Amino acid sequence: MNTAGRNLPKVYITRRIPPDGLKALQQAGSCEIQQWDSDDPVPRSELLKKVSGIHALYCLLTEKIDKEVLDAAGPSLKVVSTMSVGYDHLSLDELKNRGIRVGFTPDVLTEAVAELTIALLLATSRRLIEAVEEAKNGGWGTWKPLWMCGSGLTESTVGIIGLGRIGEAIVNRLRPFGVKKFLYNDIAPREELAAKISVDFVSLEELAKQSDFLLVCCALTPETQGMCNKGLFSKMKRSSVFINTSRGAVVNQEDLYHALANGQIASAGLDVTVPEPLPTNHPLFKLKNCVILPHIASATVETRNAMAALAAHNLLAGLKGEAMPKELKL
Ligand code: DGY
Repeated sequence: MNTAGRNLPKVYITRRIPPDGLKALQQAGSCEIQQWDSDDPVPRSELLKKVSGIHALYCLLTEKIDKEVLDAAGPSLKVVSTMSVGYDHLSLDELKNRGIRVGFTPDVLTEAVAELTIALLLATSRRLIEAVEEAKNGGWGTWKPLWMCGSGLTESTVGIIGLGRIGEAIVNRLRPFGVKKFLYNDIAPREELAAKISVDFVSLEELAKQSDFLLVCCALTPETQGMCNKGLFSKMKRSSVFINTSRGAVVNQEDLYHALANGQIASAGLDVTVPEPLPTNHPLFKLKNCVILPHIASATVETRNAMAALAAHNLLAGLKGEAMPKELKL
């Protein structure tokens, strides 16, 4: 659409985004788009310059949208749309105080994240990365009865921290593996959902004690920050497997390192860390019983396009003052 000569609201996009997102914004023809045209994050100084006078900001989870950015944007800013389900990078109080509406991208990534969580669980519990390395580097001597043994899901107890959309999708996908019992902990019991998918609410302590596989699926909030710590790991079984695909800061990484290094738990699979990227010389990378992925849980082409398009539609609706497809209630 030719938008020349019209006084259109200004939108800043903080990164190169999947094509469906850009297409949706361009085809709408209702905004003037500026973009940081790179696969790497926009430098903070550039972001602070570019947001000045914009009406809507399309951002990713790598940008901290705080008082400084909002001050730099000024009173014209009406909408922040993040291409993520997580919103711990947004200063919600600041946004609320200024009456800025916020869009996010739940639902469209649920399946991809659940799938990757299970892939990571199996890679960790069945020691796939270690085994591939051994096969490549000559460690594969002969077939040995006790070599490269991990633990299986059949007849196991799986514990979920945070029974939301993703937790539910994980339970549904794990059930056919023959899991005996599903348990969960959350800020409050989610009775209807838990009854529907046969998952029992227990205290965090009980969850740690009983789970053979403990999966972190909760949002990062002040309440969940650092909740997976020494106290939790010390209650887990020595054979248990810990998986985190939510946010790195839910875990105290130093405590996790000690739990893994001292055999307090058997292994861990992490898709998220603090910081990201985790420096290649980080002690967690030295442990054979720790599998670390570079935050790829939602990384399917379809999912990333769906996230990008949803974030675009949230932004466009917000600019028009209409209901967003997925608005975060502040
Ligand atoms: C999100 O959207 O918050 C996820 O972490 C991206 O995979």
